[in-house]
Amino acid sequence: MDISPNRALVVYYSRTGTTRSVAEEIASCLAADLEEVKATRDRRGLWGWLVSAKEGVLGQLTSIQAPKYDPADYELLVIGTPVWGENMSSPIRTYIKSHPTRFQKVAFFCTRQGSSSGKTLKELERLWGKPPVAVLDLKEKEVKERRIKEELDRFIDVLKESFGR
Ligand SMILES: Cc1cc2nc3c(=O)[nH]c(=O)nc-3n(C[C@H](O)[C@H](O)[C@H](O)COP(=O)(O)O)c2cc1C
Repeated sequence: MDISPNRALVVYYSRTGTTRSVAEEIASCLAADLEEVKATRDRRGLWGWLVSAKEGVLGQLTSIQAPKYDPADYELLVIGTPVWGENMSSPIRTYIKSHPTRFQKVAFFCTRQGSSSGKTLKELERLWGKPPVAVLDLKEKEVKERRIKEELDRFIDVLKESFGR
């Protein structure tokens, strides 16, 4: 099933590009708009890593740039984050907290190096306040080696079906 443009918005944060590449692929499959959440703080290098890890572990907020799109205009929001300290990244936490409207359906995806994503996905659902229509959990290595097609196709199929419900 094809969906008409602008019914879905893919929102993501990415520090080193892995989550971005998945977000771009999802947006292209859904003909969706794409919103990159940009943190105002410099997160490069060891110091950037340490600050990000602390914010992830402690569930803290951070400062982000004003988004381009209003999520309330969309039927489906697909939100993607890297796992930081077994939690979501602080820019995505901040984005969700600053957009309290929950009219639309939501789906989550995350990329991670190795440890379980269970806590991240649970926390995303808790923060959003409603269960997602689908979740996608990917390892960085699989994304880089382009071994995600099957999982990605399954995720996209569920999202497309959710427009018919
Ligand atoms: C501060 C920080 C904390 C991280 N914590 C975890 C973690 O707890 N578990 C894990 O599997 N990967 C962890 N990672 C690895 C990232 O989740 C992984 O590399 C991700 O794919 C990076 O996405 P990005 O390139 O879009 O930023 C961490 C990375 C950073 C920068």
